Amino acid sequence: MDFQLKSMRLSDAAATAAPAQVVLVADGFEPGKDALSALIGRAQASGDFKTEAGALLSSYGATGVATARVVLVGIGDGTAAKVRKAVLAGMAVLKGNPTRALTLCFAQAANADAVCAATLAAGEAGYVYRTTKGQKKAADKKDELRLTEVLIGLPDAAPTRGAFDRAVGVAAGVELAREWANRPANHATPTQLGDAAQALAKLPGIRCEVLGPREIAKLGMGAFQAVAQGSRQDARFIVLRYDGAAKSDAPVVLVGKGITFDTGGISLKPAPEMDEMKFDMSGAASVLGVFRALGHLKPALNVVGLIPACENMPDGAAVKPGDVVTSMSGQTIEILNTDAEGRLVLCDALTYAERFKPRAVIDIATLTGACVIALGGVRSGLFATDDALALGLQSAGEQALDPCWRLPLDDEYAEGLKTNFADVANVGGRPAGAVTAAKFLQRFAGEFPWAHLDIAGTAWKGGAAKGATGRPVGLLVQYLLDQAGLGTAPRRSPKRDKVSTKAAQAKHKRG
Ligand code: BES
Ligand code: MN
Ligand code: ZN
Repeated sequence: MDFQLKSMRLSDAAATAAPAQVVLVADGFEPGKDALSALIGRAQASGDFKTEAGALLSSYGATGVATARVVLVGIGDGTAAKVRKAVLAGMAVLKGNPTRALTLCFAQAANADAVCAATLAAGEAGYVYRTTKGQKKAADKKDELRLTEVLIGLPDAAPTRGAFDRAVGVAAGVELAREWANRPANHATPTQLGDAAQALAKLPGIRCEVLGPREIAKLGMGAFQAVAQGSRQDARFIVLRYDGAAKSDAPVVLVGKGITFDTGGISLKPAPEMDEMKFDMSGAASVLGVFRALGHLKPALNVVGLIPACENMPDGAAVKPGDVVTSMSGQTIEILNTDAEGRLVLCDALTYAERFKPRAVIDIATLTGACVIALGGVRSGLFATDDALALGLQSAGEQALDPCWRLPLDDEYAEGLKTNFADVANVGGRPAGAVTAAKFLQRFAGEFPWAHLDIAGTAWKGGAAKGATGRPVGLLVQYLLDQAGLGTAPRRSPKRDKVSTKAAQAKHKRG
């Protein structure tokens, strides 16, 4: 998607012919003398249009308006969450007859958060999965039409330029994460994920190294190998590096679960919805997405991305319930349930992370069905050994509209992981399944501050809208930019958001 930002008053928007326009109208709209103002004013007076967030009115060929297809959408008080909701609703109206280019225009002044939210929502609504769709017949060519250009207009664009540029970088990362997570497992093998990571090394500041089965064995990653051994697909261990700061600057390490398909292994999953286990590499996809964004935004910090990638399959060589394996850390693990494979690939990656002497390690994983039950699709589960790290991730999530919720790590939760046959078992009981999974990982989290994001509920949607969401790329990039002192100023009360941007910028400079 190609995004542009432009200063544009409503009268300019009314006079400019575009293939389609979505006009965002906040509470307290005061009509000017232009044709769009007249349209909004008439629609409001008749009660056919309201400015509450997401309220819609489609119009065509309004008098004096240069663009034929115009959708009016309310954005309420104009907060980021409401702008997001409105843009998604407005663009959904245009889906029936897609266009190549679109203008998204704020009818009134808008702040940086609003512009950022509009940009990200436009990217979100504009993405269409096509990779494994067949060629369309000539008659259906219209469906091939793709939204490729979005122009964001507002009366005074200059103060929002920085936020806009950041949003464009995040949008590119989200799109990449969605694309890889959406691809079916036979089009997103561990090898292909490795190639996707290699391709990112073309971006400024990014290097990539992809290890194969022999190197993985040599490192002693016995837990990761145990998961991979039941598959015909070779495992890959992907090491991405983004260097934006001095060598001496300790990196943030991101670890993404890269199970390209999770059958459950010998502890086979039931058939219904098993196809959704192609999304079990969403953590890995989010790491690729973050690196895509870093390559665009070039922040001053160092980041390492680690992706253990393999399939979890049941064949004659597959690991069996009760097998005991030795992890890279030296701890032995009794694999009581081969479907609890995510923690097995992650634990060796966490041990590998130590060599970078990281300032923080954050793993991202579609780890447990229990987290879906606990938090649904609204918030990702967050676990952390360090309060500052937890706070940083929580506030980044709020700012990026990609929220998470902290869950506990009391040692009592680890009771169920005890076994007579190894140092630790890979499953506890059913109660608090998201927590016991995190307790297992914590044993491998060494000395560094560690956080774990369980994205099983947030990484994809099921049902008619089945597909990857690209979460938590937004949260992670916001966190990293905050670390580099580049993020937008932390959100205060909504009222304060409306104060002069000068105050906000001064605060921003102070960091
Ligand atoms: N990939 C799944 C977790 C999952 C389940 C994500 C449903 C999204 C939706 C993970 O590998 C898994 O199978 N976890 C098991 C753990 C259990 C065996 C302790 C689970 O949650 O059932
Ligand atoms: Mn599993
Ligand atoms: Zn899994």
